[in-house]
Amino acid sequence: MKILAIETSCDETAIAVLDVNGSTSEPLFKVLSNQVLSQIKIHKPFGGVVPNLAMREHRKNLPIILKRALKEALLPLGSRASKLDAIAVTSGPGLEPALWEGINFAQDLAKKWRVPLIGVNHLEGHIYASWLLRRPTSKSEKSPQFPLLALIVSGGHTELVLMKKHLDYKILGETRDDAAGEAFDKVARMLKLGYPGGPEIAKAAERWKTPGKGLFPRPMINSGDFDFSFSGLKTAVLYYLRDNPDADKSAVAREFQQAIVDVLVKKTADALRKYKTKSLVVGGGVAANKKLRATLENLIKRSFPKISLHISPLWLCGDNAAMIAVAAYFKMRAKKFLKKPETLKADGNLKL
Ligand code: KG4
Ligand code: ZN
Repeated sequence: MKILAIETSCDETAIAVLDVNGSTSEPLFKVLSNQVLSQIKIHKPFGGVVPNLAMREHRKNLPIILKRALKEALLPLGSRASKLDAIAVTSGPGLEPALWEGINFAQDLAKKWRVPLIGVNHLEGHIYASWLLRRPTSKSEKSPQFPLLALIVSGGHTELVLMKKHLDYKILGETRDDAAGEAFDKVARMLKLGYPGGPEIAKAAERWKTPGKGLFPRPMINSGDFDFSFSGLKTAVLYYLRDNPDADKSAVAREFQQAIVDVLVKKTADALRKYKTKSLVVGGGVAANKKLRATLENLIKRSFPKISLHISPLWLCGDNAAMIAVAAYFKMRAKKFLKKPETLKADGNLKL
């Protein structure tokens, strides 16, 4: 089976072609092409994503990367319709004008090539990216097992999700204000570290070798539920910088990163203890953070040795279409494709 997926929910225009082999119970995934065109340079001067600019760029870039993806996946012109089994597209959450560009493009292709259309939730994609961990030839590397806990940490979301089976999501907790990635971006702006902020903070933090002193609060760390709140932490950094104008940026970056990691890891550990899952899946842009990855690896090794840990590989943490294709495969298998492709709509606040 071959699935072509399209992702335009934010500032990355992405198209991927996924090949699925093996049995239904043990599918083997191979990414034939994973094209991602980042718009970072365009939005950089504004310090954040400008929806109308994103939309314009998606419109311009989709036909270009479609050609590249088909070429790389060796689907020559004219044979596409017979070689593809489905088109998948992100329908939300995200910026609606941006989402519409991908949806319209996908609807046209599905009609032209007479293949089913599958709408995918962007967060579903971040979770399913972990199924691509499996090297197609490796028997030892297992895919995530149910029940599983998923930690989604991105620019727009911070969620702990319980999955008892495929496509079945129970949100245990989420952020009440800023998402983890959003907090990284905002604090980076305060420190004049550039955009996007996550990688910049991580780099600055690595330069500061002294262990943290616990300078900033760990909001809601002992709240007893699985919700998050990062806006107070951001404000604490703001006041600290106001009162300590000569503070070393790297030190502040390190302290801030440690506070976020502490909260994310503590809540994840609490959820693992409570729900006794077999696997932990971690995805989203912030999952690229080295400190977070290392701390989670340590936690599993020390406290939950029976749980398998699946953190998205680095090339699949940020937004991409390969993850959308994997989620689409499971939806296709469950016959969750659209009976009427023209009814698919963008939903900026789509829930899991
Ligand atoms: O998943 P993603 O690419 O887009 C959304 O769905 O939002 O996540 C983007 C977010 C940004 O806030 C970015 O600053 C953050 O992920 N990010 C990081 C790192 N790399 C990207 N945050 C912390 N450490 C990183 N290394
Ligand atoms: Zn994302």
